[in-house]
Amino acid sequence: ELSPIDRAKFVAAKRAVDYVEDGMRVGLGTGSTAAWMVRCLGEIVREEGIRVTGVATSSRTADLARQVGVPIRTLDEVKWLDLTIDGADEYDSNLNLIKGGGGALLQEKIVATASDQMIVIADPSKQVDTLGAFPLPVEVIPFGWQTTKALIEEMLSNIDVLGRNASLRLNMDEPFRTDEGNYILDLHLRRIGNPQQLSLVLNQIPGVVENGLFLDICDIVVIGNSDGTVEVRD
Ligand code: A5P
Repeated sequence: ELSPIDRAKFVAAKRAVDYVEDGMRVGLGTGSTAAWMVRCLGEIVREEGIRVTGVATSSRTADLARQVGVPIRTLDEVKWLDLTIDGADEYDSNLNLIKGGGGALLQEKIVATASDQMIVIADPSKQVDTLGAFPLPVEVIPFGWQTTKALIEEMLSNIDVLGRNASLRLNMDEPFRTDEGNYILDLHLRRIGNPQQLSLVLNQIPGVVENGLFLDICDIVVIGNSDGTVEVRD
């Protein structure tokens, strides 16, 4: 028996997998919702003989894909994808997203950007009027990270946001490390008035690798409800 939240994630994942056609190259997202999608994809590969090539957005997702029988290639082997299916931490009515709660935003953004289509799967709790209640993850190079953090906080004073603190993400008592060995700063902004401007300005700071704003990347959001119903926005 699934919990209500897992049921919502599962039905969204199951519906999204309907978009996968035989022969497609599919980007596989990271997180608990995306994990349901990978399991659903494994099921249609095993039981319906659908052929897919998966490109994972994290080592966690690659491990799961192998376990459930989804063939995995690197992005450099495949180069371009038909479809990416991933979760999100927030989505707004323009289908702009905050991602990176699981720390995989860099590979997720590279893979989603290299896809003809991106589908986000979510439960209704991820829907917001304005992005920013969820802390915005920013991947930074470990070298000089405290200077980078200070530069980000200083830059935020000229930006339309409500909160301006950045915190280093920890794992136990150590800095959290991404698959690339980088750190994550979580920006507590509460409300992001102009996501386009913020994303551009963040990515101009030398120590910043990438930020968790996904703007004009997502094409479809599939929302699963715990009663088993599904809603599609595009
Ligand atoms: C991973 O880095 C994130 O972008 C995830 O997509 C996001 O955190 C959603 O995760 P859940 O599906 O577990 O909420």
